[in-house]
Amino acid sequence: MSALRAFAVPLPAFHPDDTINAVAERFLQPDLAKALSLAVVDAEGVPVGMISRHQLNDIFMKKFGRDLFGARPVRDFMRTEILAVDADRPLAEAAAFITAHMQFPLSEDFILTENGRYLGMGAVLHLLGAMEQQMSRNVADLNRAYSQLASSQAQLVQSEKMAALGQMVAGVAHEINTPLGYVNNNIEMVREFVAQMQLILQGHELLASTLLSPTATDVDIAECLASIDDMKAGLDFSQWFADLDQLFNDTFYGVEQISELVTGLKDFSRLDQAPTDNVSLNECVESALLIARNTLKYKVEVLKRLEDLPKIRCAASQINQVLLNLFTNAAQAIRDTGYLLIKTWTDDRWVYVSVQDTGCGIPRESLRRIFDPFYTTKPVGEGTGLGLSISFKIIQQHGGAIRVASEVGKGTRFVVSLPRTEPVSLSAVA
Ligand SMILES: Nc1ncnc2c1ncn2[C@@H]1O[C@H](COP(=O)(O)OP(=O)(O)OP(=O)(O)O)[C@@H](O)[C@H]1O
Ligand SMILES: [Mg+2]
Repeated sequence: MSALRAFAVPLPAFHPDDTINAVAERFLQPDLAKALSLAVVDAEGVPVGMISRHQLNDIFMKKFGRDLFGARPVRDFMRTEILAVDADRPLAEAAAFITAHMQFPLSEDFILTENGRYLGMGAVLHLLGAMEQQMSRNVADLNRAYSQLASSQAQLVQSEKMAALGQMVAGVAHEINTPLGYVNNNIEMVREFVAQMQLILQGHELLASTLLSPTATDVDIAECLASIDDMKAGLDFSQWFADLDQLFNDTFYGVEQISELVTGLKDFSRLDQAPTDNVSLNECVESALLIARNTLKYKVEVLKRLEDLPKIRCAASQINQVLLNLFTNAAQAIRDTGYLLIKTWTDDRWVYVSVQDTGCGIPRESLRRIFDPFYTTKPVGEGTGLGLSISFKIIQQHGGAIRVASEVGKGTRFVVSLPRTEPVSLSAVA
Protein backbone atom coordinates (compact mmCIF):
# COMPACT_ATOMS: atom_id res chain seq x y z
CA MET A 1 0.00 0.00 0.00
CA SER A 2 1.35 3.41 -0.90
CA ALA A 3 2.15 5.68 2.03
CA LEU A 4 -0.29 8.27 0.74
CA ARG A 5 -3.31 5.92 1.01
CA ALA A 6 -2.93 5.99 4.78
CA PHE A 7 -4.04 9.62 4.66
CA ALA A 8 -7.37 8.87 2.97
CA VAL A 9 -10.34 9.46 5.28
CA PRO A 10 -13.55 8.31 3.53
CA LEU A 11 -15.55 11.47 4.18
CA PRO A 12 -18.77 11.97 2.28
CA ALA A 13 -18.59 13.97 -0.92
CA PHE A 14 -21.18 16.36 -2.36
CA HIS A 15 -22.93 16.23 -5.68
CA PRO A 16 -22.70 19.40 -7.77
CA ASP A 17 -26.49 19.84 -7.44
CA ASP A 18 -26.50 19.75 -3.61
CA THR A 19 -27.55 23.11 -2.19
CA ILE A 20 -25.35 25.44 -0.24
CA ASN A 21 -27.67 25.00 2.75
CA ALA A 22 -27.20 21.23 2.63
CA VAL A 23 -23.45 21.71 2.48
CA ALA A 24 -23.55 24.08 5.47
CA GLU A 25 -25.57 21.61 7.50
CA ARG A 26 -23.19 18.78 6.66
CA PHE A 27 -20.23 20.82 7.81
CA LEU A 28 -21.96 21.24 11.17
CA GLN A 29 -22.08 17.47 11.78
CA PRO A 30 -19.63 16.32 14.51
CA ASP A 31 -17.86 13.80 12.22
CA LEU A 32 -16.72 16.69 10.03
CA ALA A 33 -15.66 18.89 12.92
CA LYS A 34 -12.07 18.93 11.72
CA ALA A 35 -12.66 18.92 7.94
CA LEU A 36 -11.47 22.06 6.19
CA SER A 37 -13.07 21.15 2.89
CA LEU A 38 -15.01 18.41 1.13
CA ALA A 39 -14.98 17.06 -2.37
CA VAL A 40 -17.70 17.58 -4.95
CA VAL A 41 -17.94 14.56 -7.25
CA ASP A 42 -20.05 13.79 -10.31
CA ALA A 43 -22.29 10.77 -10.83
CA GLU A 44 -19.25 8.65 -11.82
CA GLY A 45 -17.45 9.60 -8.63
CA VAL A 46 -14.94 11.80 -10.43
CA PRO A 47 -14.05 14.91 -8.39
CA VAL A 48 -15.15 18.09 -10.10
CA GLY A 49 -14.63 20.60 -7.33
CA MET A 50 -14.00 21.38 -3.69
CA ILE A 51 -15.95 23.43 -1.25
CA SER A 52 -14.41 24.67 1.97
CA ARG A 53 -15.73 25.92 5.29
CA HIS A 54 -13.94 29.11 4.50
CA GLN A 55 -15.98 29.62 1.31
CA LEU A 56 -19.21 28.87 3.18
CA ASN A 57 -18.36 31.49 5.77
CA ASP A 58 -17.77 33.98 2.97
CA ILE A 59 -21.20 33.24 1.51
CA PHE A 60 -23.10 33.42 4.79
CA MET A 61 -21.28 36.52 5.98
CA LYS A 62 -22.67 38.42 3.01
CA LYS A 63 -25.84 40.43 3.62
CA PHE A 64 -28.81 38.10 3.33
CA GLY A 65 -26.30 35.44 2.29
CA ARG A 66 -28.31 32.45 3.45
CA ASP A 67 -31.51 33.73 1.78
CA LEU A 68 -29.84 34.76 -1.42
CA PHE A 69 -27.48 31.83 -1.90
CA GLY A 70 -28.61 29.01 0.40
CA ALA A 71 -30.80 27.36 -2.18
CA ARG A 72 -28.25 27.60 -4.97
CA PRO A 73 -26.26 24.48 -5.98
CA VAL A 74 -22.77 23.96 -4.71
CA ARG A 75 -21.48 23.83 -8.32
CA ASP A 76 -21.93 27.65 -8.46
CA PHE A 77 -19.53 28.22 -5.56
CA MET A 78 -17.11 25.33 -5.48
CA ARG A 79 -13.49 25.74 -6.42
CA THR A 80 -12.90 23.92 -9.65
CA GLU A 81 -9.12 23.98 -9.43
CA ILE A 82 -9.12 20.99 -7.23
CA LEU A 83 -6.31 19.84 -5.00
CA ALA A 84 -6.49 16.16 -5.94
CA VAL A 85 -3.74 13.57 -5.96
CA ASP A 86 -3.70 9.95 -6.97
CA ALA A 87 -3.42 7.71 -3.92
CA ASP A 88 -0.53 5.80 -5.54
CA ARG A 89 1.64 8.85 -6.00
CA PRO A 90 4.83 8.82 -3.91
CA LEU A 91 4.52 10.74 -0.67
CA ALA A 92 7.22 13.27 -1.41
CA GLU A 93 5.83 13.99 -4.87
CA ALA A 94 2.30 14.46 -3.47
CA ALA A 95 3.60 16.74 -0.73
CA ALA A 96 5.49 18.84 -3.29
CA PHE A 97 2.37 19.13 -5.46
CA ILE A 98 0.12 20.05 -2.56
CA THR A 99 2.46 22.62 -1.03
CA ALA A 100 2.82 24.22 -4.47
CA HIS A 101 -0.94 24.52 -4.91
CA MET A 102 -2.42 25.00 -1.44
CA GLN A 103 -3.88 28.27 -0.31
CA PHE A 104 -2.76 30.56 2.44
CA PRO A 105 -4.07 30.70 5.07
CA LEU A 106 -4.69 26.99 4.89
CA SER A 107 -8.39 26.62 4.11
CA GLU A 108 -8.52 23.37 2.17
CA ASP A 109 -7.47 19.80 2.55
CA PHE A 110 -6.85 17.59 -0.44
CA ILE A 111 -8.79 14.98 -2.37
CA LEU A 112 -7.33 11.52 -2.82
CA THR A 113 -8.32 9.65 -5.95
CA GLU A 114 -7.95 6.14 -7.21
CA ASN A 115 -8.10 5.64 -10.96
CA GLY A 116 -9.43 9.18 -11.19
CA ARG A 117 -12.32 8.54 -8.75
CA TYR A 118 -12.85 9.96 -5.33
CA LEU A 119 -11.30 7.85 -2.57
CA GLY A 120 -11.35 10.14 0.44
CA MET A 121 -10.02 13.36 1.92
CA GLY A 122 -6.56 13.87 3.30
CA ALA A 123 -5.44 16.56 5.74
CA VAL A 124 -2.69 18.83 4.46
CA LEU A 125 -1.29 19.26 7.94
CA HIS A 126 -0.94 15.52 8.48
CA LEU A 127 0.86 15.15 5.20
CA LEU A 128 3.24 17.99 5.99
CA GLY A 129 3.86 16.51 9.44
CA ALA A 130 4.72 13.14 7.88
CA MET A 131 7.07 14.81 5.43
CA GLU A 132 8.76 16.68 8.23
CA GLN A 133 9.30 13.42 10.09
CA GLN A 134 10.70 11.78 6.99
CA MET A 135 13.00 14.71 6.41
CA SER A 136 14.33 14.59 9.93
CA ARG A 137 14.91 10.86 9.44
CA ASN A 138 16.77 11.69 6.23
CA VAL A 139 18.78 14.34 8.02
CA ALA A 140 19.65 11.82 10.73
CA ASP A 141 20.68 9.32 8.02
CA LEU A 142 22.75 11.98 6.33
CA ASN A 143 24.40 12.91 9.60
CA ARG A 144 25.20 9.27 10.24
CA ALA A 145 26.62 8.88 6.73
CA TYR A 146 28.60 12.06 7.20
CA SER A 147 30.13 10.93 10.47
CA GLN A 148 30.91 7.52 8.95
CA LEU A 149 32.64 9.29 6.09
CA ALA A 150 34.53 11.54 8.47
CA SER A 151 35.67 8.59 10.52
CA SER A 152 36.74 6.58 7.48
CA GLN A 153 38.64 9.62 6.28
CA ALA A 154 40.33 9.82 9.66
CA GLN A 155 41.18 6.13 9.33
CA LEU A 156 42.64 6.79 5.90
CA VAL A 157 44.76 9.61 7.18
CA GLN A 158 45.82 7.33 10.00
CA SER A 159 46.72 4.52 7.62
CA GLU A 160 48.72 6.90 5.45
CA LYS A 161 50.48 8.11 8.55
CA MET A 162 51.21 4.52 9.50
CA ALA A 163 52.49 3.80 5.99
CA ALA A 164 54.67 6.91 6.09
CA LEU A 165 55.84 5.96 9.55
CA GLY A 166 56.64 2.43 8.36
CA GLN A 167 58.65 3.80 5.45
CA MET A 168 60.42 6.24 7.69
CA VAL A 169 61.19 3.63 10.31
CA ALA A 170 62.56 1.28 7.64
CA GLY A 171 64.79 4.08 6.31
CA VAL A 172 66.02 5.10 9.72
CA ALA A 173 66.55 1.49 10.78
CA HIS A 174 68.71 1.01 7.71
CA GLU A 175 70.65 4.18 8.53
CA ILE A 176 71.23 3.05 12.08
CA ASN A 177 72.23 -0.43 10.97
CA THR A 178 75.38 0.64 9.14
CA PRO A 179 77.15 2.37 12.06
CA LEU A 180 75.72 -0.25 14.38
CA GLY A 181 77.38 -2.91 12.24
CA TYR A 182 80.87 -1.51 12.53
CA VAL A 183 80.46 -0.48 16.15
CA ASN A 184 79.69 -4.16 16.77
CA ASN A 185 82.72 -5.29 14.77
CA ASN A 186 84.98 -2.89 16.58
CA ILE A 187 83.78 -4.03 19.97
CA GLU A 188 84.41 -7.62 18.93
CA MET A 189 87.98 -6.71 17.94
CA VAL A 190 88.56 -4.85 21.21
CA ARG A 191 87.28 -7.88 23.09
CA GLU A 192 89.82 -10.15 21.34
CA PHE A 193 92.57 -7.63 22.02
CA VAL A 194 91.67 -7.41 25.70
CA ALA A 195 91.58 -11.23 25.96
CA GLN A 196 95.10 -11.40 24.55
CA MET A 197 96.28 -8.63 26.85
CA GLN A 198 94.80 -10.52 29.75
CA LEU A 199 96.82 -13.63 28.85
CA ILE A 200 100.04 -11.63 28.57
CA LEU A 201 99.28 -9.93 31.88
CA GLN A 202 98.69 -13.29 33.51
CA GLY A 203 102.09 -14.43 32.10
CA HIS A 204 103.74 -11.39 33.65
CA GLU A 205 102.02 -11.98 36.99
CA LEU A 206 103.29 -15.58 36.94
CA LEU A 207 106.79 -14.33 36.11
CA ALA A 208 106.67 -11.82 38.99
CA SER A 209 105.57 -14.43 41.54
CA THR A 210 108.22 -16.92 40.24
CA LEU A 211 110.91 -14.30 40.61
CA LEU A 212 109.81 -13.59 44.18
CA SER A 213 109.55 -17.24 45.14
CA PRO A 214 112.63 -18.46 47.17
CA THR A 215 112.20 -21.95 45.74
CA ALA A 216 112.02 -20.94 42.06
CA THR A 217 114.78 -22.26 39.89
CA ASP A 218 116.39 -20.67 36.83
CA VAL A 219 114.56 -23.20 34.72
CA ASP A 220 111.19 -22.04 36.13
CA ILE A 221 112.05 -18.44 35.34
CA ALA A 222 113.21 -19.31 31.84
CA GLU A 223 109.94 -21.19 31.20
CA CYS A 224 107.91 -18.17 32.28
CA LEU A 225 109.89 -15.89 30.01
CA ALA A 226 109.56 -18.31 27.11
CA SER A 227 105.78 -18.54 27.49
CA ILE A 228 105.51 -14.72 27.57
CA ASP A 229 107.69 -14.53 24.47
CA ASP A 230 105.42 -17.06 22.76
CA MET A 231 102.37 -14.94 23.51
CA LYS A 232 104.04 -11.78 22.23
CA ALA A 233 105.44 -13.43 19.13
CA GLY A 234 104.50 -11.52 16.01
CA LEU A 235 102.88 -8.69 17.95
CA ASP A 236 103.80 -5.10 17.23
CA PHE A 237 102.59 -3.28 20.34
CA SER A 238 102.89 0.25 19.02
CA GLN A 239 100.82 -0.77 15.97
CA TRP A 240 98.36 -2.50 18.28
CA PHE A 241 97.74 0.62 20.31
CA ALA A 242 97.49 2.76 17.21
CA ASP A 243 94.83 0.34 15.85
CA LEU A 244 93.04 0.38 19.14
CA ASP A 245 92.93 4.14 19.08
CA GLN A 246 91.47 4.05 15.56
CA LEU A 247 88.92 1.46 16.66
CA PHE A 248 87.78 3.71 19.48
CA ASN A 249 87.56 6.72 17.18
CA ASP A 250 85.48 4.80 14.65
CA THR A 251 83.25 3.45 17.37
CA PHE A 252 82.64 6.89 18.81
CA TYR A 253 81.86 8.17 15.32
CA GLY A 254 79.33 5.38 14.80
CA VAL A 255 77.70 6.01 18.14
CA GLU A 256 77.54 9.72 17.35
CA GLN A 257 75.85 8.97 14.04
CA ILE A 258 73.30 6.80 15.77
CA SER A 259 72.57 9.42 18.37
CA GLU A 260 72.30 12.09 15.66
CA LEU A 261 69.68 9.95 13.93
CA VAL A 262 67.78 9.41 17.13
CA THR A 263 67.78 13.15 17.83
CA GLY A 264 66.72 13.71 14.25
CA LEU A 265 63.80 11.34 14.68
CA LYS A 266 62.76 13.14 17.81
CA ASP A 267 63.00 16.51 16.04
CA PHE A 268 61.12 15.15 13.09
CA SER A 269 58.20 13.88 15.07
CA ARG A 270 58.42 16.69 17.63
CA LEU A 271 57.06 14.24 20.13
CA ASP A 272 58.19 16.30 23.06
CA GLN A 273 56.76 19.58 21.81
CA ALA A 274 53.47 21.39 21.59
CA PRO A 275 51.35 20.67 18.50
CA THR A 276 52.14 24.16 17.27
CA ASP A 277 55.38 25.95 17.89
CA ASN A 278 57.66 28.57 16.44
CA VAL A 279 59.99 27.03 13.93
CA SER A 280 61.98 28.04 10.94
CA LEU A 281 61.12 26.19 7.77
CA ASN A 282 64.86 25.59 7.34
CA GLU A 283 64.85 23.42 10.47
CA CYS A 284 61.98 21.42 9.01
CA VAL A 285 63.92 20.97 5.76
CA GLU A 286 66.96 19.67 7.67
CA SER A 287 64.84 17.37 9.83
CA ALA A 288 63.04 15.87 6.86
CA LEU A 289 66.29 15.52 4.88
CA LEU A 290 67.88 13.59 7.70
CA ILE A 291 64.98 11.17 7.75
CA ALA A 292 64.92 10.90 3.95
CA ARG A 293 68.68 10.30 3.80
CA ASN A 294 68.37 6.61 3.13
CA THR A 295 65.90 7.16 0.28
CA LEU A 296 67.96 9.90 -1.31
CA LYS A 297 71.52 8.63 -1.00
CA TYR A 298 73.34 7.11 -4.01
CA LYS A 299 70.76 8.40 -6.51
CA VAL A 300 69.95 11.98 -5.57
CA GLU A 301 72.36 14.81 -5.06
CA VAL A 302 70.77 17.34 -2.74
CA LEU A 303 71.47 21.02 -3.35
CA LYS A 304 70.30 23.49 -0.73
CA ARG A 305 69.79 27.22 -1.05
CA LEU A 306 68.24 28.13 2.27
CA GLU A 307 67.84 31.81 3.04
CA ASP A 308 67.43 33.20 6.54
CA LEU A 309 63.79 32.81 7.50
CA PRO A 310 61.64 34.19 10.27
CA LYS A 311 60.17 31.56 12.54
CA ILE A 312 56.53 30.83 11.92
CA ARG A 313 53.91 29.27 14.09
CA CYS A 314 53.03 25.86 12.74
CA ALA A 315 52.64 22.20 13.55
CA ALA A 316 56.25 21.34 12.76
CA SER A 317 55.75 17.57 12.69
CA GLN A 318 53.05 18.01 10.05
CA ILE A 319 55.21 20.32 7.95
CA ASN A 320 58.02 17.75 8.26
CA GLN A 321 55.61 15.10 7.00
CA VAL A 322 54.78 17.28 3.96
CA LEU A 323 58.46 17.85 3.16
CA LEU A 324 59.31 14.18 3.62
CA ASN A 325 56.58 13.27 1.15
CA LEU A 326 57.86 15.83 -1.36
CA PHE A 327 61.44 14.52 -0.99
CA THR A 328 60.31 10.91 -1.25
CA ASN A 329 58.21 11.66 -4.33
CA ALA A 330 61.19 13.41 -5.90
CA ALA A 331 63.50 10.47 -5.17
CA GLN A 332 60.94 8.06 -6.58
CA ALA A 333 60.59 10.18 -9.72
CA ILE A 334 64.33 10.05 -10.42
CA ARG A 335 65.10 6.84 -12.25
CA ASP A 336 68.89 6.57 -12.06
CA THR A 337 70.54 9.66 -10.66
CA GLY A 338 69.50 13.28 -10.48
CA TYR A 339 69.29 16.44 -8.45
CA LEU A 340 67.01 17.69 -5.74
CA LEU A 341 67.16 21.44 -5.32
CA ILE A 342 65.63 22.79 -2.13
CA LYS A 343 65.19 26.53 -1.81
CA THR A 344 63.66 28.64 0.92
CA TRP A 345 62.96 32.36 0.89
CA THR A 346 60.52 34.89 2.25
CA ASP A 347 58.61 38.08 1.44
CA ASP A 348 56.41 40.38 3.58
CA ARG A 349 53.60 37.89 3.93
CA TRP A 350 54.86 34.41 3.21
CA VAL A 351 57.69 32.00 3.71
CA TYR A 352 58.34 29.69 0.79
CA VAL A 353 60.00 26.36 0.27
CA SER A 354 60.47 24.96 -3.19
CA VAL A 355 61.35 21.34 -3.87
CA GLN A 356 62.55 20.77 -7.39
CA ASP A 357 63.72 17.51 -8.93
CA THR A 358 65.14 16.36 -12.22
CA GLY A 359 62.83 13.35 -12.28
CA CYS A 360 60.42 12.00 -14.87
CA GLY A 361 57.95 14.90 -14.61
CA ILE A 362 54.16 14.71 -14.54
CA PRO A 363 52.04 14.67 -17.72
CA ARG A 364 49.67 17.59 -18.07
CA GLU A 365 46.52 15.41 -17.80
CA SER A 366 47.73 13.96 -14.49
CA LEU A 367 48.69 17.30 -12.96
CA ARG A 368 45.17 18.13 -11.79
CA ARG A 369 44.74 14.71 -10.23
CA ILE A 370 47.89 14.37 -8.15
CA PHE A 371 46.27 15.97 -5.09
CA ASP A 372 43.29 13.59 -5.27
CA PRO A 373 43.25 10.91 -2.60
CA PHE A 374 44.41 7.54 -3.96
CA TYR A 375 45.77 8.94 -7.18
CA THR A 376 49.04 7.12 -7.69
CA THR A 377 51.10 5.93 -10.62
CA LYS A 378 53.21 3.71 -8.42
CA PRO A 379 52.89 -0.05 -8.28
CA VAL A 380 50.70 -1.62 -5.62
CA GLY A 381 52.51 -1.67 -2.32
CA GLU A 382 54.78 1.23 -3.25
CA GLY A 383 52.38 4.15 -3.10
CA THR A 384 48.99 4.67 -1.54
CA GLY A 385 48.37 7.90 -3.43
CA LEU A 386 47.57 9.72 -0.21
CA GLY A 387 50.83 11.60 0.32
CA LEU A 388 49.99 14.71 -1.67
CA SER A 389 46.32 14.83 -0.69
CA ILE A 390 47.31 14.82 2.96
CA SER A 391 50.08 17.33 2.31
CA PHE A 392 47.56 19.58 0.57
CA LYS A 393 45.23 19.37 3.56
CA ILE A 394 47.99 20.10 6.05
CA ILE A 395 49.15 23.18 4.13
CA GLN A 396 45.58 24.36 3.64
CA GLN A 397 44.92 24.08 7.37
CA HIS A 398 47.98 26.22 7.96
CA GLY A 399 46.48 28.91 5.73
CA GLY A 400 49.08 28.26 3.05
CA ALA A 401 49.19 26.92 -0.49
CA ILE A 402 50.98 24.24 -2.42
CA ARG A 403 51.60 24.63 -6.15
CA VAL A 404 53.19 22.46 -8.76
CA ALA A 405 54.83 22.95 -12.13
CA SER A 406 56.18 20.07 -14.14
CA GLU A 407 57.56 19.11 -17.50
CA VAL A 408 57.71 15.53 -18.66
CA GLY A 409 61.30 14.35 -18.98
CA LYS A 410 62.69 17.42 -17.23
CA GLY A 411 61.38 17.42 -13.71
CA THR A 412 58.92 18.80 -11.22
CA ARG A 413 58.83 21.71 -8.82
CA PHE A 414 56.54 22.01 -5.82
CA VAL A 415 56.31 25.33 -4.03
CA VAL A 416 54.80 25.48 -0.57
CA SER A 417 53.94 28.87 0.90
CA LEU A 418 53.01 29.43 4.51
CA PRO A 419 51.78 32.68 6.04
CA ARG A 420 54.24 34.64 8.15
CA THR A 421 51.45 35.78 10.40
CA GLU A 422 49.89 33.39 12.81
CA PRO A 423 47.01 31.51 11.21
CA VAL A 424 43.62 32.21 12.78
CA SER A 425 42.82 28.64 13.66
CA LEU A 426 44.88 25.59 13.19
CA SER A 427 43.25 22.27 13.82
CA ALA A 428 45.42 19.20 13.63
CA VAL A 429 44.92 16.87 10.71
CA ALA A 430 43.13 13.95 12.30
N1 LIG B 1 58.07 14.88 -7.90
C1 LIG B 1 57.25 14.14 -8.66
N2 LIG B 1 57.61 13.77 -9.91
C2 LIG B 1 56.79 13.03 -10.69
N3 LIG B 1 55.55 12.60 -10.30
C3 LIG B 1 55.15 12.95 -9.08
C4 LIG B 1 55.96 13.73 -8.19
N4 LIG B 1 55.26 13.92 -7.04
C5 LIG B 1 54.08 13.28 -7.20
N5 LIG B 1 54.01 12.69 -8.41
C6 LIG B 1 52.87 11.94 -8.96
O1 LIG B 1 51.75 12.15 -8.14
C7 LIG B 1 51.23 10.91 -7.65
C8 LIG B 1 50.63 11.12 -6.28
O2 LIG B 1 51.61 11.43 -5.33
P1 LIG B 1 51.33 11.11 -3.80
O3 LIG B 1 52.51 11.55 -3.02
O4 LIG B 1 50.01 11.68 -3.45
O5 LIG B 1 51.16 9.54 -3.79
P2 LIG B 1 52.26 8.42 -4.03
O6 LIG B 1 53.64 9.02 -3.89
O7 LIG B 1 51.94 7.73 -5.30
O8 LIG B 1 51.97 7.45 -2.81
P3 LIG B 1 52.34 7.73 -1.28
O9 LIG B 1 52.76 9.15 -1.14
O10 LIG B 1 51.08 7.44 -0.55
O11 LIG B 1 53.43 6.76 -0.99
C9 LIG B 1 52.41 9.97 -7.70
O12 LIG B 1 52.01 8.62 -7.81
C10 LIG B 1 53.15 10.44 -8.96
O13 LIG B 1 52.53 9.93 -10.12
MG1 LIG C 1 54.12 10.26 -2.17
